[in-house]
Amino acid sequence: MGRRGHHPTTTFAAADRASSRPVSTRASPLVPRLGRRLIPEELLKMVTNVVDLRSDTVTKPSDAMRAAMAAADVDDDVLGADPTAHRFEMEMARITGKEAALFVPSGTMANLISVLVHCDTRGSEVILGDNSHIHIYENGGISTIGGVHPKTVRNNPDGTMDIDKIVAAIRHPDGALYYPTTRLICLENTHANCGGKCLSAEYTDEVGEVAKSHGLKLHIDGARIFNASVALGVPVHRLVKVADSVSVCISKGLGAPVGSVIVGSTAFIEKAKILRKTLGGGMRQVGILCAAAYVAVRDTVGKLADDHRRAKVLADGLKKIKHFRVDTTSVETNMVFFDIVDSRISPDKLCQVLEQRNVLAMPAGSKSMRLVIHYQISDSDVQYALTCVEKAAEEILTGSKKFEHLTNGTTRNSYGH
Ligand SMILES: Cc1ncc(COP(=O)(O)O)c(C=O)c1O
Repeated sequence: MGRRGHHPTTTFAAADRASSRPVSTRASPLVPRLGRRLIPEELLKMVTNVVDLRSDTVTKPSDAMRAAMAAADVDDDVLGADPTAHRFEMEMARITGKEAALFVPSGTMANLISVLVHCDTRGSEVILGDNSHIHIYENGGISTIGGVHPKTVRNNPDGTMDIDKIVAAIRHPDGALYYPTTRLICLENTHANCGGKCLSAEYTDEVGEVAKSHGLKLHIDGARIFNASVALGVPVHRLVKVADSVSVCISKGLGAPVGSVIVGSTAFIEKAKILRKTLGGGMRQVGILCAAAYVAVRDTVGKLADDHRRAKVLADGLKKIKHFRVDTTSVETNMVFFDIVDSRISPDKLCQVLEQRNVLAMPAGSKSMRLVIHYQISDSDVQYALTCVEKAAEEILTGSKKFEHLTNGTTRNSYGH
């Protein structure tokens, strides 16, 4: 998902500036030319000097996660014997109010498996948002691997699809000779491409009712369902009550290094387990990862409200910069999308200039940007980023470097916010 991936060159350069040690300012992409070996703590400190707003997927495991990984009791999970994986899956089933859960390597695989289990006959059709992650960013896997046909319905700016449009998209059985067969509806909560908007429990219930009355299943891509839960003040199990399956990412806002979970009925998860193996997602001593995931769910959910507050501060600050337009009321969770109104400032150029000041961001379109808050972004990081965004715009417009003196080397409080 990253536009440019990890960027150690800038990171090490930042650390050079922040440090009083006489080190070279040149850095190779992978090995810093520091003339001495770095101990891991120093490397870690350097990495955290970057204000990385590209995504909430960029977090590094906390000390507690690393400790849990080191201490994890593990066994072969393909044989169903890993106690730490089992404990984590039980916990996720409990939190989501479903019978069973399955840890998988990624959100993409979680969605693919879920769709394929519900649409186990070729020529099945799934109704999903035209702006949904499954439709846009998952390589069309439901079609290429599963033979499932996507029927898109327009996503409203709030991430919903109109109920009457969903109903209209359901294939009539009279046309079974010609049509694919509708078997599934997919929702996304929060909706990433719609700016991290939350779907309410009531809306989800309505879609669930449509699905049920037409004999369809409902899957929720809940990559950031915990963000929705915190923002709405509604427990996760209530938000997904009517869903037959939910995929939940642990490596986004929750900050675990790897993994997603699928939840659903016991029968659904049994089938999902077979597909996970087919897709190469059966992992052996996976408790190492589940240990971190368990800590992420335990420790990070309580911090999401801070992420959301910081996203609002960021949006409010951006709104005050004349070159940008941001709808602050649209910021419901940890994502901030903003438009660049001055045609001389391209998103790519803005990202490039920001990167020189160790602020990493991603274009969202030809005239828009996306910034994402996560638990390793502090209040001071937000302020630093705002200063840099404003100065970067000026620098692009005037061609002069007005903020050479700025560095975030001293703005971090500590590792792991
Ligand atoms: C809403 C949503 N669903 C699914 C995914 C896929 O997750 P992964 O990158 O773990 O495959 C993402 C990734 O960003 C996402 O934003």
